[in-house]
Amino acid sequence: MSTDPDTNDRMIRFDGVVKRFGDHTVLDRLDFTVGRGEKVTLIGPSGSGKTTILRLLMTLETVTEGVIEVDGRPLTHEMRGGRLVPAREKHLREIRKQIGMVFQQFNLFPNMRVLGNIIEAPVHVLNQDKEKAVARARELLEVVGLADKEDAHPSQLSGGQQQRVAIARCLAMNPKVMLLDEVTSALDPELVDDVLVVLRDIATGTDITMVIVTHEMRFAREVSDRVLMFDSGRVIEEAPPEKLFGSPTHERTREFLRAVL
Ligand SMILES: Nc1ncnc2c1ncn2[C@@H]1O[C@H](COP(=O)(O)OP(=O)(O)O)[C@@H](O)[C@H]1O
Ligand SMILES: [Mg+2]
Repeated sequence: MSTDPDTNDRMIRFDGVVKRFGDHTVLDRLDFTVGRGEKVTLIGPSGSGKTTILRLLMTLETVTEGVIEVDGRPLTHEMRGGRLVPAREKHLREIRKQIGMVFQQFNLFPNMRVLGNIIEAPVHVLNQDKEKAVARARELLEVVGLADKEDAHPSQLSGGQQQRVAIARCLAMNPKVMLLDEVTSALDPELVDDVLVVLRDIATGTDITMVIVTHEMRFAREVSDRVLMFDSGRVIEEAPPEKLFGSPTHERTREFLRAVL
């Protein structure tokens, strides 16, 4: 496709990826790439495989067939003795460090305060010095507008605040790739904008590669370089947001947008 980035500029590549659960084929020889620093939004009907794509990237699921590469390295395979073989846990841990995900349901550690949530992985996975991790966590709490909440427990925060902590926690790992799965879908409507404003600043102000699944089409239009429309396990249309939302080519895309806009 014309928008396909050059090999060196690719951060993510799906090459002939098939994902089946039992005899249900969710992804059907899926090909797509995401450029370094690019912000790509995935849209498509419920059940079209969007979450599965993100979970594969997080190595929470394994591909049935095909290859996924992140920053030029196969995600679930590694070279050993000159051959590509299924990756060991050590390789997966290395890969996972580069990718951060924010979930619909926040998934904060309920027994830890805000600061503890943010420094947990930098200290225990990246072996960062604790003082340094705390300093960085405080910077990130500023970024997400929660500088006064470092001692709060998740249960004392609103959904929107918890989600902003989850975003800070993701950024604390300095990910190359950030995956966002319907991060505002569980929020009360009046809390959605606070989260989207933070994400828009991150999208426009950093070179982190972002793969976004969202039903917030206005947000998608503002932050995305490219929008990919999924249906039945394939990308059926992809274009810059003005084009995809303004004059979609496929009837399936038009139908979907009529339903969600
Ligand atoms: N662990 C699983 N076991 C069986 N089926 C699954 C599993 N995860 C997802 N699916 C199925 O895969 C399809 C795609 O799901 P999903 O990726 O969550 O779609 P989306 O995020 O686009 O709504 C759905 O039909 C779902 O039921
Ligand atoms: Mg989903």
